[in-house]
Amino acid sequence: MSGMDLTNSVSYLCSTYGDSFADVYDDWYQQVTDVDGTANFIAGLSDGLEVLELGVGTGRLALPIARKGIPISGIDASPAMLKRLAIWDSQKLVRPYLADMSDWLPSGPYKVIFCAYNTFFNLVGQGDQEDCLKLVRDRLHPDGFFVLEAFVPSNYSQLPTRGVESRHLSNGAVFNITIREKISGVIRGQSVELDDSGVVLRPWRVRVRTPDELDQLASDLGFRLVERWQDWYRSPFSSSSDHHISVYASTNP
Ligand SMILES: C[S@@+](CC[C@H](N)C(=O)[O-])C[C@H]1O[C@@H](n2cnc3c(N)ncnc32)[C@H](O)[C@@H]1O
Repeated sequence: MSGMDLTNSVSYLCSTYGDSFADVYDDWYQQVTDVDGTANFIAGLSDGLEVLELGVGTGRLALPIARKGIPISGIDASPAMLKRLAIWDSQKLVRPYLADMSDWLPSGPYKVIFCAYNTFFNLVGQGDQEDCLKLVRDRLHPDGFFVLEAFVPSNYSQLPTRGVESRHLSNGAVFNITIREKISGVIRGQSVELDDSGVVLRPWRVRVRTPDELDQLASDLGFRLVERWQDWYRSPFSSSSDHHISVYASTNP
């Protein structure tokens, strides 16, 4: 069992989430979002040209896209996640890069850069989301697209500031403890897994943004919203949608 030793007290780095969850990621999150829908949507938008996934993880989404014949690269800050990707990707279909996506992106240019399953919210440092978007803008093909998938934290300022939820595993239980920092909007979480061999801590953090906040950020950095859908099948987005797929393009290609 890996994860994090209870006796270890470490600061939270951009690699912490991935390194903590890599050992269980494919078991716990394989079906957490729509893999086929994502792959079809991204492959269609790419026109067969280069794609980059931000926060590629173990390749849950990038590998099905690559299997459609789309040239795809993936960046991740976690060596443990990329190690899992290398195991699944025996044919080396996905070009991996180990880096902090708010600090560096491969030069491209890319027809599509995408960041799925709330991964953009993993950028929690002050200004990290802005820095990442600036890099995306510089690496996109002139008629390229940035695609972002995230939940809609509508009214999140009214959400409780503390929470605990639990779920059973076949040989144990996982408690997820969350604390929302009211002013910054950063949510700090700790996944606590208990089983016969002991306790494993897996820390996580997210800085959530509403769709309007994301649009403002994108517009400040030279993007315009081209499409917004509720899911990967282009169902209409409405004020009650709890999820969005947003497609941005540069205002100054
Ligand atoms: C929720 S997982 C998503 C993985 C994959 N996209 C999927 O949908 O299965 C988020 C991934 O983003 C990576 N990540 C978090 N912060 C990052 C950063 N600053 N730069 C690059 N990757 C990061 C994590 O290591 C992790 O693999």
